[in-house]
Amino acid sequence: MLEQLEHLRQEAEAALAHASTTEATKAWHSEYLGRKGRLTAILRNLASLSPEERPQVGRVANEVKVALEQALEERQAALAQTELSAARSRQLVDMTLPGRPQTIGKLHPTTVTLREIYAIFTAMGFQIFDSPEVETDEYNFQLLNMPPGHPARDMWDTFYTTAPDQLLRTHTSPGQIHAMRAYAPNPVRVILPGKCYRYEQVTARSESMFYQVEGLAIGKRITFSDLKGVLTNFADQMYGEGRQMRFRKSYFPFTEPSVELDIECMLCGGKGCPICKYTGWLEILGAGMVHPIVLQNGGYDPTEFSGFAFGMGPERIALVKYGIDDIRYFYANDVRFLERVG
Ligand code: DAH
Repeated sequence: MLEQLEHLRQEAEAALAHASTTEATKAWHSEYLGRKGRLTAILRNLASLSPEERPQVGRVANEVKVALEQALEERQAALAQTELSAARSRQLVDMTLPGRPQTIGKLHPTTVTLREIYAIFTAMGFQIFDSPEVETDEYNFQLLNMPPGHPARDMWDTFYTTAPDQLLRTHTSPGQIHAMRAYAPNPVRVILPGKCYRYEQVTARSESMFYQVEGLAIGKRITFSDLKGVLTNFADQMYGEGRQMRFRKSYFPFTEPSVELDIECMLCGGKGCPICKYTGWLEILGAGMVHPIVLQNGGYDPTEFSGFAFGMGPERIALVKYGIDDIRYFYANDVRFLERVG
């Protein structure tokens, strides 16, 4: 029986070397190692051996089994490799098929709007000034004429960080102080774009993260007419000339007097629709003459210097310009929106 096993092993190895496809190795497996295979047949006869012979024959039979199984595994791996490369080289390239077009990215609607704003203001001589997104209570509120406990703080729901006194800026206005302190006592004409954060319920009209562009002009004879001139010019260029606009009195602690600029709703042409809440007007920015205390905090003598400031939300501007009815689209990352707008 030992001889029989040795013979079987040699025969099986030779047969395996001839199996040249994965299919053939499967047939080989059932012939030699399968349930009705030849090795199994020999093992079945173990019972007929004497108790002395049985352990030795059993051990050899097992060795043969293990060796054949391993040989099969190696053969199959080698065949799989060759079959794969053969399949690859058979694959022909159809030169007549049209090429796959590359999809070209687009600027985000907010970026497009920001760039339009930059172009309009830089043409009027404003420089772009960068200021931090993480601010202190002092810059975000106190230096803007809102001491702790000032009721106007209620207009800005704030994200506080775990560091004492640090917060995510609720508006770009603290940048006014940075810019003034960088330039005083020289005149300033800057815009300050950037992200702002508010701890607010997200709705169709307000997000908890959004952009603002702040503007600031300080000099010796800057008047309310300059403010009106600059902002009217801006709105004409941004929305097209001839559109109705109005300055409406308002309140901000850092400006006196303060106004808001409204523009005729472009969706309904002033007749009233859900976007303008049936008023016919859309608010596009807040503005005013820089408060003497703020001028002082920035390092300017308010008896000598004056200035105007404004703050606008580019997403709001884009909403109006492109007739978008929900601000949440801006950060939802839906490609259909990103492709359509801007
Ligand atoms: N910071 C104000 C806000 O977030 C907007 C604003 C209003 C900015 C009037 C100004 C300004 O510079 O003069 O609501």
